[in-house]
Amino acid sequence: FEVNWNAEAAEKGGYEHFMLKEIHEQPKAVRATISSRIAKDNSAVVLDELKWNKDFLNSFNRIFIVACGTAYHAGLVGKYYIEKMARIPVECDIASEFRYRSPIVDENTLMIVVSQSGETSDTLAALKEAKRLGAKTLAVTNVVGSSIAREADQVVYTWAGPEIAVASTKAYTTQLIVMLLLGLYMAGIRETMPQERITELIRGLREIPTQIGQTLEDEDPIKTFAKQYGFNEDVFFIGRSLDYAVALEGSLKLKEISYIHAEAYAAGELKHGTLALIVDSIPVIALATQKSVYEKTLSNIKEVKARDAVVIGIASADDTELEKYVDHVIKVPETDELLIPLLAVVPLQLLAYYAAITRGCDVDKPRNLAKSVTVE
Ligand code: G6P
Repeated sequence: FEVNWNAEAAEKGGYEHFMLKEIHEQPKAVRATISSRIAKDNSAVVLDELKWNKDFLNSFNRIFIVACGTAYHAGLVGKYYIEKMARIPVECDIASEFRYRSPIVDENTLMIVVSQSGETSDTLAALKEAKRLGAKTLAVTNVVGSSIAREADQVVYTWAGPEIAVASTKAYTTQLIVMLLLGLYMAGIRETMPQERITELIRGLREIPTQIGQTLEDEDPIKTFAKQYGFNEDVFFIGRSLDYAVALEGSLKLKEISYIHAEAYAAGELKHGTLALIVDSIPVIALATQKSVYEKTLSNIKEVKARDAVVIGIASADDTELEKYVDHVIKVPETDELLIPLLAVVPLQLLAYYAAITRGCDVDKPRNLAKSVTVE
């Protein structure tokens, strides 16, 4: 028993939990997933494993991204990236829904499945179903030689390294990287984006591992919030566009490991129901990193403040406005609004982690959950 304990402690590399270790491994994991996939002169994404061309991409009238859990949340960001950059319609679906709803799939469909483990049974079944219907298939996975990697026509690996904690962190950020690389790669081939914009994003991408490191430097304010609000039973997350996708992931992290009831809402949708739940002292985590919808998000934040919610805002380092309207602000380094999800998710991971610690939860092995769900 003692030997096991020592072995496990050694594997955790000085961290109290695998989750915290994996959160801190993100700069390395992201760097590994980017490296060798961008041209030295920042002009293009190089995915030698794919070798796609214009005819191949133009043969698709739609793309599906299908996954479960955190990988599904990465898929939502992928939809945004691919549609914006490569101008191909993308539908994102949960694997257990996709497989039972007679999806419209044929040889003009590209099916992308995302799975950290490569073994999730719903995702594997959805992949098989899409193949049966004639789709071309691509797996984005973290495990070489996994069932999903073997089943798909092609694979792009995330190089996150082994992820042990049930709650996914570094796999998610590397999945976002692959989604971004795919968007840029397709845009380059289809010539749907100006070259200068591609170069600008690749330059920004190179900075991301260092910027994630900077985001991880100061955990103290997050620990304080976790102590302050960790015993609340409900927390809301709001955001628009990419911030909404990140909000969904932040709320999943919190419920998975701290068992706090957490819900994410598209900020503009609040008034269609959820606003009724916003009462005095309810914590609301408001993501306001997307400049293109900033004013709209701000007016939603004012709506929840008017109901006396306690608002923790997540903003870019150059933001000087948000602090006027919210109770606390967590800032992440300045980058392009398409890249900022890679930074904005980090404080949310830490918040979930420290909330779980505050509540005395078993962080790495939350109740009722498994790392990889290989049964239906
Ligand atoms: C389980 C895990 C989640 C994970 C999901 C999908 O529910 O607890 O963390 O996101 O499965 O797993 P996959 O390996 O397919 O990414």
